[in-house]
Amino acid sequence: MNRHAPRAAIAVTALALLASGCASTPVLSPTGAQGGLIENLWWLIAWICGLVYVAVLVGLGVALARRRGQPREGTTRDRGLHVALVAWGVLIIGLLTWMVAASFLTDRRIRQGEPDLELRVTAKQWWWEIEYVDGEPARHVTTANELVLPRDRTARLHLVSSDVIHSFWVPSLSGKHDLIPGTTNAILLTPRANGLFRGQCAEFCGLQHAHMGLDVRVVDSAAFEAWRARQLQPARPPAGAEARRGAALFHGGTCATCHRVQGTPAGSRMGPDLTHFASRRTLAAGTLPMTRTDVARWLDDPQHVKPGNHMPKVPLTPAQRADLVAYLMELR
Ligand code: CUA
Repeated sequence: MNRHAPRAAIAVTALALLASGCASTPVLSPTGAQGGLIENLWWLIAWICGLVYVAVLVGLGVALARRRGQPREGTTRDRGLHVALVAWGVLIIGLLTWMVAASFLTDRRIRQGEPDLELRVTAKQWWWEIEYVDGEPARHVTTANELVLPRDRTARLHLVSSDVIHSFWVPSLSGKHDLIPGTTNAILLTPRANGLFRGQCAEFCGLQHAHMGLDVRVVDSAAFEAWRARQLQPARPPAGAEARRGAALFHGGTCATCHRVQGTPAGSRMGPDLTHFASRRTLAAGTLPMTRTDVARWLDDPQHVKPGNHMPKVPLTPAQRADLVAYLMELR
């Protein structure tokens, strides 16, 4: 037996290393109530499977050690083996039942709770449209690629897709959930800590699947209400001369045919709502940071930055591009 002890020790060490490595991932250090329930389930299954694996290795070691000893004989030993195997079978059935029941209960519990907020998240190739639904249409907020949530309040997200199957995943807050054309799925998110968290499409949905990120900002209730009040404001009229020229270009040209800027005639929802564009941290669904240089880069050739996306390359002179950037950066 002693000769085989190192093998079991290696297995336990490997498991511990794996576990310590995983513990630093958002999935195993969740900041959402639902993510916490999923983490508990994960650890339960990891421990059961890990211990059974070690037990199998130990059993194998014992069997190999005995086989090299005296030849097998006598019915007492056969009976003992028989009892041990039945006990092992019962144990395995018990553990499997425990895991199935725990999975079922976790699935039920992550769907329980009364939401304080209702949102609709529409996945599109390759960005997210986020709408804060309110009974009062005047309090309906539409934004893109940025989810702002109040801490300790439950949001229900109705998940839909306008083209192919996508998957909504904010590892810190909860598990993955598919967005399927023609179907509405719903999940609850109850964040327990302030912070900025990364969300990502988790189902291959085409060329730019990897560039389908989402910023999730969890803030205090008061900060959330202030954010919502700002989002409800129509776009500010352009202030500088450059921005005014940019606005004329935007509303007289191609941009307004795909984008909405509330408070202006531009009302298309084909592309992201740009009313408060520059208040976001990134553009093109997490592809670029929100800086003047990067907005200019994006306008210059969106197909170079994110090949295959639905924004066409619009021919612009350097001066026109600068005007347009000035206008967009004022949309805060
Ligand atoms: Cu959307 Cu992958």
